[in-house]
Amino acid sequence: MNASTRTHRASAHRASAHRTSVRDIVKRKGGAPIVCLTAYTAPVAKILDRHVDLLLVGDSLGMVIYGMDNTQGVSVDMMVAHGTAVVRATARACVVVDLPFGSYESAPAAAFETASRVLAETGCAAVKFEGGVVMAETVRFLVERGVPVMGHVGLQPQSVKAAGGFRVHGRTEEEAARIRADAHAIADAGVFSIVLENVVETLGRSLTAEIDVPTIGIGASPACDGQILVTDDMVGGFTDFTPRFVKRYADVAGEIDRAAEAFAREVVARRFPAPEHCAGGAPKDSNAA
Ligand code: KIV
Repeated sequence: MNASTRTHRASAHRASAHRTSVRDIVKRKGGAPIVCLTAYTAPVAKILDRHVDLLLVGDSLGMVIYGMDNTQGVSVDMMVAHGTAVVRATARACVVVDLPFGSYESAPAAAFETASRVLAETGCAAVKFEGGVVMAETVRFLVERGVPVMGHVGLQPQSVKAAGGFRVHGRTEEEAARIRADAHAIADAGVFSIVLENVVETLGRSLTAEIDVPTIGIGASPACDGQILVTDDMVGGFTDFTPRFVKRYADVAGEIDRAAEAFAREVVARRFPAPEHCAGGAPKDSNAA
């Protein structure tokens, strides 16, 4: 198969693949668990695409990719650049892009301006933003104007400083009641699903039973309609800070460390590059470029 046939087949596959829509996600309420992960770059999104229903271009990229202490310094331009890369690299997943801190909270019209730019420039299916009762009016404003919105309550990383750090939410009756009111307010306003982050298990379970749209748990409950983790936490690529609710399925940081150590050793010993890695130095039967 030559390169042009390969390219043609790849694009035919892309064109025929069904991309999961927001409606598909809504229909999964109470059904088979919805598999979600974060993605920020094209190569990782391409690998994840066949395994997930939904990819979130989370503003966690501020910490994971840009080394920030929290997500408050993330800009709309960053979200647009990473969202575009993820949509471009995928054919199946429903791609949702976070609205970053400061780009939506001041007024519904501000949120609409940011959300419409993100949707138009990235080609994503929906936007996500944090907040409950206080953001319900904004959710309604956007949904009525054709912007699908995913909500996010419980631990809200954008206001983590005000909330007293990365702690479990809903331990007291008063806090649990607040989170319940938040989730119901944005559900009534029209979100198509809600991320429940770091809330006590019983609260995640009861909210999932009470609310008509899918709940996506992260440190919440196995009863949630779906689960999400930050991919870099899940594969052990980001090790600065790992919440207790993360399960590590791989040791990417360890693999990179081992590979870099081997490379450095071989360079210092002049064992790399070998003849086959040098331009014009490959054996005749090799197809190396
Ligand atoms: O930004 C993000 O990655 C998120 C997930 C933690 C849900 O919001």
